[in-house]
Amino acid sequence: MFLGLDIGTGGTRAVLVNAQGKLVASASADHAPFRSPHPGWAEQDPEDWWRAAKQAIREVLEASGAKIEAVGLTGQMHGAVMLDVSGEVLRPSLIWCDQRTEAECEWLHNAIGRERLIELTANPALPNFTLTKLLWVRNHEPEIFGRIAHVLCPKDYVRYRLTGAYAMDVQEASGTLLLDVAHRRWSGEVARAAGIPEAWLPQLFESQEVCAKISAEAAELTGLFAGTPVVAGAGDQGAGAVGMGILEPGSVSATIGTSGVVFAATAAPTRDPLGRLHTFCHAVPGRWHVMGVTQAAGLSLRWLRDTIAPGSDYDALTAEAAGVPAGSDGLLWTPYLLGERTPHLDSQARAAFVGLTAGHTRGHLVRAVLEGVAYSLKDTFTLFAELGIPVKGVRLGGGGARGPLWRRIQAAIYGYRADVLVAEEGAAFGAALLAGVGAKGWPNLEAACAASIEVAQQIEPEAAAVGRYAEGYKAYRRIYPALKGIHG
Ligand code: XUL
Repeated sequence: MFLGLDIGTGGTRAVLVNAQGKLVASASADHAPFRSPHPGWAEQDPEDWWRAAKQAIREVLEASGAKIEAVGLTGQMHGAVMLDVSGEVLRPSLIWCDQRTEAECEWLHNAIGRERLIELTANPALPNFTLTKLLWVRNHEPEIFGRIAHVLCPKDYVRYRLTGAYAMDVQEASGTLLLDVAHRRWSGEVARAAGIPEAWLPQLFESQEVCAKISAEAAELTGLFAGTPVVAGAGDQGAGAVGMGILEPGSVSATIGTSGVVFAATAAPTRDPLGRLHTFCHAVPGRWHVMGVTQAAGLSLRWLRDTIAPGSDYDALTAEAAGVPAGSDGLLWTPYLLGERTPHLDSQARAAFVGLTAGHTRGHLVRAVLEGVAYSLKDTFTLFAELGIPVKGVRLGGGGARGPLWRRIQAAIYGYRADVLVAEEGAAFGAALLAGVGAKGWPNLEAACAASIEVAQQIEPEAAAVGRYAEGYKAYRRIYPALKGIHG
């Protein structure tokens, strides 16, 4: 049995996966909501993740009584956990969605050069990335910065509490902006230019590598056995992709949760010279991935529901939308409720309904939102085409894969066959598969995924809708530049 542990934003989830690749038990524990002492700030206490991790592990072990062969970790990416020389947390973590570091991003682009930074790390500076958060602490809390001895990401802090080891996988490290993504090692040049001592950075591993063992103290607290191997794991996007079988170049997933991510495995690091996609090491050795992020994907639908139909269930609302023709009779939605990452990299972007008439109904609004979110994810497919990134088909994940209407809309808008999986268990499941490979339960990730992942349904794009959506997408693409500058 393999244990996967996902240190998410809202909570921690522990899953047990057996040697046949089946999920046999799971348990979750909530985190305290992140604090936002100023607009755009987001902080959490690492101690709270550790509390939730202990609780979720204990519960899942008690439910099953199973013996764990290996542990795999995953979690929210990018957050900066700062520790002193004795491993004590110095301040709350600035987490992935904290947006306070625009000035530090600009400083990095000036100090290193935007193009040079993309050459070295494969990515431009974005407020999400860990390095920019460290620079904010240097600028605003120099006494804390002066005491930093170790920097980790959220799940790596939980690993530290489980094992005493300072370790990170290369997929997670890609999101720090301190990794030489092409060579899968820390970038001395970026660390030097930014003024970050390399000694602060943990040892790097491939995701499936065993990097530490459960300590006697953690065994006491969790119910795991001391000495159980722990693999490096991956950030939630990397482990989530493993859990959906996105390993080979050409395989792509489109996952709609609160945000939406289109993720493609690649054979080499494919940089976007304009930095519109994230280019990271994959959790698969010798592979990389690119991904585009729509900030408010599922969130667009939740916002609409809570605003115009509070208390309604999503099935009832999408049933209204199913009665409206493809293209929503000309109504369009741009989902920039939280600014946008891909392709605009613009935290000031704003959402809009465009083309309303007196004839539009609530069903039109809902359908336009489903279509607008899919158009936004289509922007990432458009970048893939521009950069020559192959797409053989798309696996749908998250809430966007649950209802038949959103599945059909996605297939027709992306223009690819869309596969729905029998069970999609998220990042914790992928982390358990990584643990299984690390413990030699499977020879490699391909074998682990072949044993555990099954396609339930394949949806071909509907010919009639494809043409209508091609027109709609052209109109959609004109909205952002037309509205830019009206707000901020
Ligand atoms: C990835 C990203 C999110 C976080 C939180 O770039 O920002 O997926 O990892 O889930």
